[in-house]
Parts: sequence; C-alpha cells; structure tokens
Amino acid sequence: MREDDLPAAERASALTFLDADRRDRRVSDPEPELRSAAAGRQWIDRMRYYLTTDPGGCLVAVEPHAGAEQVVGFAVSQNREWLWYLATYGVLPGHQRRGIGKRLLDAVLAHADGRPGIFSSSVHPGATRRYRLAGFSLHPQMRMVGTVVRSALPAVDGLREGGAEDFPWMDRLDRELRGAGHGPDHGRLLASHRLVVSGDRTRPGYVYVDGRGRAALLAAGRADTAQRLLWEALAASDGSTLVNCVTTPNEWAVDVGLAAGLAIGQEGYLAVRGMPVPAPYLADGHFL
Ligand SMILES: CC(C)(COP(=O)(O)OP(=O)(O)OC[C@H]1O[C@@H](n2cnc3c(N)ncnc32)[C@H](O)[C@@H]1OP(=O)(O)O)[C@@H](O)C(=O)NCCC(=O)NCCS
Repeated sequence: MREDDLPAAERASALTFLDADRRDRRVSDPEPELRSAAAGRQWIDRMRYYLTTDPGGCLVAVEPHAGAEQVVGFAVSQNREWLWYLATYGVLPGHQRRGIGKRLLDAVLAHADGRPGIFSSSVHPGATRRYRLAGFSLHPQMRMVGTVVRSALPAVDGLREGGAEDFPWMDRLDRELRGAGHGPDHGRLLASHRLVVSGDRTRPGYVYVDGRGRAALLAAGRADTAQRLLWEALAASDGSTLVNCVTTPNEWAVDVGLAAGLAIGQEGYLAVRGMPVPAPYLADGHFL
C-alpha cells in the first residue's frame, strides 16, 4: 500500500463493510449505511498512521481496470515488538471467493515473521474460514449495551488522570498481558482519548475513554483494578453506552456491566494465534 492508494482503499473498505454489514445484520439491528465522508477521512488518517509506522504490514490487491489499477482488496497489519496485529482486511464483494483474500492474509502473515497474532474478527463466513485455516483460535466476544443506572455507580478512588509520562510502565504492563507494549499506539490513543490510570504502582492499570465515555482499551494487573477503571469509564458515559471486546476470561467486565444495568449481547470473535486471550484486558478494535 502506498500513500496514493489510500482514497481508493477507503472506498473499497466502505463498500466491502457495507455489504458485510447487510449480510450479517440481525433483524433488530438498524439498516447499515455507507460510511460517511467524515468517517472516511478518519479511516484514511488511521491507515496513514499504520503506513508510516510499519509500512511492510500494509498491502493492497490491485487489478487492471479501464487502463488503470483498481484496488480490490486490502490487508493492514502491524508489528509491535514481538506481536503482530491485523487492523483491517477485506476484498470487494464482486471479487470475493477467488483466493485474493488468502493471498493478502498469507502476505501479511509473512510480515508477522512468526510473531504471535491478535485481532478482532467479524462473523463473515469467508473471514472466519480464512482465520481458522491460518491457525487462529476464535474466541466469541460479548458486548454490553444500555444506559448506566447512575445509582449503581460506586465511589471509585485510587485513580488519577494519566499522560505520556505513564507510557513506560503501561508498555511493561502490556508486555505482561499481550507480550508487547503498544509503543507508538499509546501516543495515537492519547491524542483522541482521556487516559485514566491507577495511582498505585503496585496495582497497575489504565483505561482510555473516548469522547462518549466508552472504554476503548483497558489493561490491569488484577481484576479488581480493571473493575475500578471500568466503573470510572461508565461514570463518564452519557446516554446509551457500550463495552465491547469482552471474552470469557474477562468476566470481571461482564459483572461490572450487569451491576451497571447493561445487557449482554454477542459480537464477533477475538482471534489469537500463539498467545492466550489477554486478561484482565479489553482490547481496542484498532490497536488491539
Ligand atoms: C474475509 C475476506 C477478506 C476474504 O476474502 P476472499 O477473497 O473472499 O477470500 P478467499 O477467496 O481467499 O477465501 C475465502 C474462503 O472462504 C470461503 N467463503 C468466502 N465467502 C464465503 C461465504 N459468503 N460463505 C461461505 N464461504 C465463503 C471461500 O470459499 C474461501 O474458502 P476456500 O479457500 O476453502 O475456497 C472477504 O470475504 C471479505 O472482505 N469479507 C467482508 C469483510 C470482512 O468481514 N473482513 C474481515 C474483517 S475481520
């Protein structure tokens, strides 16, 4: 993938995921819509970051079309220390089931060079088939949705606002939980999120909270620290909220969600290869 592929890759991604969302939508879900221009610009901005940070993990599949090249597929992955993650992956609907996805996945896995791997998987049958055939374990994920019952919020102490000076110990905690620090991804997350950390260095933990009060990435040394951090995020929520990427080794999060009045739903898989499911941990879909 090159910088000048980004607009075409964005359109391919928007069409691919609209088709997948229509296909995999449950009757209770709202009608899927094509990604907005603003969301498209955010997508390009994030892909540019991956391309700058680890370009070897970013690929497009192209085919000749009307005398030019058409982007028909994309696979964007990143190595961080001794860990590989897949950020996004797709093939245009009209080009699926012809082996393009296999070639893309094989190529980004070659870039992983034997590193353990992690990503959040859709339920698309082509995707789950590819992932399992590549040796990934698919762990079903829960999502907790609803409006927080304010009277259920406990008084949470021992937390403080975090900053870039916290990244060294946060990376050490990441290594214990997932085998690698987030490195530059911490800076990327801090630019658009509030960071809350445990004030007790013997019980490390942190959570990034987005503008709508959703926990985007949470890591802790112990489940009780993780629960306090999640309560802090839920306290910041306004209206309907969401806690996602919850796997069964992270039932501490289910217990907090239920106590807050949220309901359990099911959504996709956490895919891992060569490593266990991190816990106590809530992965971020973009930076894992
Ligand atoms: C996942 C994806 C990239 C695979 O691309 P692709 O070019 O179709 O992949 P391939 O043809 O190499 O392989 C897909 C495999 O799944 C099968 N498959 C594809 N679509 C299928 C479907 N709708 N139902 C059942 N099987 C399907 C293919 O037959 C093939 O199996 P085979 O290799 O044993 O023949 C593509 O399906 C896609 O873009 N899906 C929607 C977006 C998505 O969910 N991306 C993953 C996000 S985590």
